Amino acid sequence: MNVSKRPELRTGEKYFTSLGAGYETEAFSGLGPAWISDRELNAVRTALRGMPKGAQVLDAGAGNGRATKVMGDELGLDVTALDAVPEMLASILEERPSTKTVLARLGVPLPFDSETFDAVISLRVLKWVPAWEHALTELARVLRPTGRIAVEITNRRSIARFGYRNAAVIPVTRSAARDVGERAGIEWIDEIPGTHLPLVIWRMGKGNTSMRLLTGSQAIADHVLGSTGARSVVLVGRKK
Ligand SMILES: C[S@@+](CC[C@H](N)C(=O)[O-])C[C@H]1O[C@@H](n2cnc3c(N)ncnc32)[C@H](O)[C@@H]1O
Repeated sequence: MNVSKRPELRTGEKYFTSLGAGYETEAFSGLGPAWISDRELNAVRTALRGMPKGAQVLDAGAGNGRATKVMGDELGLDVTALDAVPEMLASILEERPSTKTVLARLGVPLPFDSETFDAVISLRVLKWVPAWEHALTELARVLRPTGRIAVEITNRRSIARFGYRNAAVIPVTRSAARDVGERAGIEWIDEIPGTHLPLVIWRMGKGNTSMRLLTGSQAIADHVLGSTGARSVVLVGRKK
């Protein structure tokens, strides 16, 4: 299922085309950002816990395949990686040649039949898609009944979202994302908060002492605030 026609690019996609395979270095270098990344991947592990080996999973906006690799190599799932930027898919194939890749865009109809996948995940993507409601509705459409979904959204009600600096991200509220999902037939079953501290603070995590301070503050914020005010939230749901 390797599709090769390059779609017309929009703002967020152009940004990632310029970063190409360097995206991972930009996003995750340093102990603090790497810790945030692990936390998000743990949210995926939690969301997909107990899925049978070989289950069909869509990684929507797969980037360099951070989650594709966890789901394929560690959880034994059959992953399809979709992205609008060919360089991203090429970097996944370089490292994991068996991955099914699809060059397509979220925000327009997806090139899959309804009820194709047992699970769908999308991390750090909807914030780049102006038509994010349509994208989320399409992710629900291609999910089988009882299938799982885990989508990360940027929380508009978080001060930590200012950590995105000048990037053209589209923050939404948790309740807006939940409403769109529910209208598309999703029952939300969990909400896994991202960090409460802006990225610029996490970038200061360079050694054991600073990381202990940061993760300690985060643990307190998790305990006291839960998802409220978190910079991003992974919403976990099930198709009815
Ligand atoms: C921040 S990266 C996240 C990658 C991966 N999900 C991760 O968490 O490591 C965002 C990805 O979304 C892709 N993207 C942006 N807009 C998109 C769209 N409308 N349709 C599909 N992919 C898109 C970008 O090319 C990029 O690979």
